[in-house]
Amino acid sequence: MQNLIICALLLAFISPFICIGFNVTIDAYNVIDFGAKGDGKTDDSQAFLRAWESTCGAEGMRSLVIPQNYKFLLSPLKFKGPCNASSIQIQIRGKIVAPAKNEWVSYYFTWILMTNVNGLIVDGSEGLIDGLGSTWWPCKPCQRPSVITFNACNDLRVSNLRIVNSPRSHINVNDCVNAIFSAISIHSPVNSPNTDGFNVYASKNIWIRDSTIASGDDCIGISGNSSYVNVTGIACGPGHGISIGSLGKGSDNTAEQIYVQNCNFTGTTNGARIKTFPNGSGYARGITFEQIKLIKARNPIIIDQFYDDYSPTDKGVEVSGITFRGFDGTCVHDEAITLNCGPQGCFNITLDQIKIVSYEQGKQVYCSGKNAHGTVTSTTPNCSCLSP
Ligand SMILES: *[C@@H]1O[C@H](CO)[C@@H](O)[C@H](O)[C@H]1NC(C)=O
Ligand SMILES: *[C@@H]1O[C@H](CO)[C@@H](O)[C@H](O)[C@H]1NC(C)=O
Ligand SMILES: *[C@@H]1O[C@H](CO)[C@@H](O)[C@H](O)[C@H]1NC(C)=O
Ligand SMILES: *[C@@H]1O[C@H](CO)[C@@H](O)[C@H](O)[C@H]1NC(C)=O
Ligand SMILES: *[C@@H]1O[C@H](CO)[C@@H](O)[C@H](O)[C@H]1NC(C)=O
Ligand SMILES: *[C@@H]1O[C@H](CO)[C@@H](O)[C@H](O)[C@H]1NC(C)=O
Ligand SMILES: *[C@@H]1O[C@H](CO)[C@@H](O)[C@H](O)[C@H]1NC(C)=O
Ligand SMILES: *[C@@H]1O[C@H](CO)[C@@H](O)[C@H](O)[C@H]1NC(C)=O
Repeated sequence: MQNLIICALLLAFISPFICIGFNVTIDAYNVIDFGAKGDGKTDDSQAFLRAWESTCGAEGMRSLVIPQNYKFLLSPLKFKGPCNASSIQIQIRGKIVAPAKNEWVSYYFTWILMTNVNGLIVDGSEGLIDGLGSTWWPCKPCQRPSVITFNACNDLRVSNLRIVNSPRSHINVNDCVNAIFSAISIHSPVNSPNTDGFNVYASKNIWIRDSTIASGDDCIGISGNSSYVNVTGIACGPGHGISIGSLGKGSDNTAEQIYVQNCNFTGTTNGARIKTFPNGSGYARGITFEQIKLIKARNPIIIDQFYDDYSPTDKGVEVSGITFRGFDGTCVHDEAITLNCGPQGCFNITLDQIKIVSYEQGKQVYCSGKNAHGTVTSTTPNCSCLSP
């Protein structure tokens, strides 16, 4: 065990040379002290679990340190709470790598699971998590694991985390209340299947901010009973954009109070998207996308109530109170805006201050829609298909 000293310096205004410092000591547990080798070959997961048990079981503020200049190979592992520690910080300074596909002995839905830990702080400065996805991607029908899942973790803070090459989605946020993710960097190739950046599910009061996401699927997907989700300052692309849904199957079929602001979509297939299954139930309401920059986004604005299925239907997910405001930039597909609502209609749709042009100079783009109701102001291309 070693002590970690955090020194916070408060600079006085009077003179830049006067500073008042104080030390806060948090007991830190270093995985090396629990037998981790960090040579990239030895499976260090048991050592990590021993370090976790000590960290979680102790009282007070605790810190788990994954040190720099090591590469830790970990088989699937679970960091389980509740903990005695009042707050736990995990510092990822070194590199963490997953085993290759043929070394997984059985299927796990996620490689790293953090479950039932409240007040968790994860800081990944200098660290890197590599899911070794390239060993999985060729097998599209395989059940592939996500890299990290936060399940039932309330009051969560995750920052400066760098994740690459997930076999499936990079970060799952399931059943969490109050979480902030900042300065997250996610990178998987454009053709890697189902590699969502974030997947927010059944969670509330979530803020994902100031992050960079390049992937083969949604940069951020928000679904299944999620509410009060803010997404700000995201550079998304390549990828499929930021999506709400798919909603409509099962009881986890709602999404509301979602606010996406100040995001860039660069070379994405979609941009701001709401997708629901036909003949489903539930709702998507109170959803705003604003201040969005588009650089060669294929189809930047989409409401699609026929996701994955075009069968005729007489009922569907209720879509209402949806605002797209302040979109600016270029698209690739001629159909820049798609508002494809089911026969029951989408209501209270607002399009405002939108200027989307083709990336090919002089080429016309258009808006297409059916059963969509709401108001359009200052929008190019014009959306005359939207009725009051
Ligand atoms: C903080 O810790 C350092 C290193 O142990 C020590 O030199 C310094 O005096 C401490 N400062 C205060 C304000 O306690
Ligand atoms: C919390 O502390 C109690 C009492 O020391 C101990 O029995 C228990 O195992 C600890 N919990 C965890 C998760 O380690
Ligand atoms: C989301 O943003 C709104 C408006 O800026 C703010 O009032 C709200 O507290 C934010 N919520 C979260 C969960 O960050
Ligand atoms: C979006 O692009 C603009 C212009 O290139 C840039 O100034 C801004 O920082 C970008 N924002 C994000 C969130 O990446
Ligand atoms: C979603 O919310 C509904 C209604 O509150 C509830 O019946 C259902 O169990 C929830 N599902 C999940 C997965 O949270
Ligand atoms: C719609 O769903 C209901 C039950 O959920 C089912 O009975 C009906 O056949 C479905 N209709 C279509 C067109 O799929
Ligand atoms: C329309 O949507 C806006 C934005 O979500 C919301 O504030 C307003 O209450 C909605 N109005 C109606 C009549 O549903
Ligand atoms: C809207 O755009 C279409 C296709 O570009 C065009 O034919 C139509 O005249 C436009 N309507 C208005 C009112 O500008």
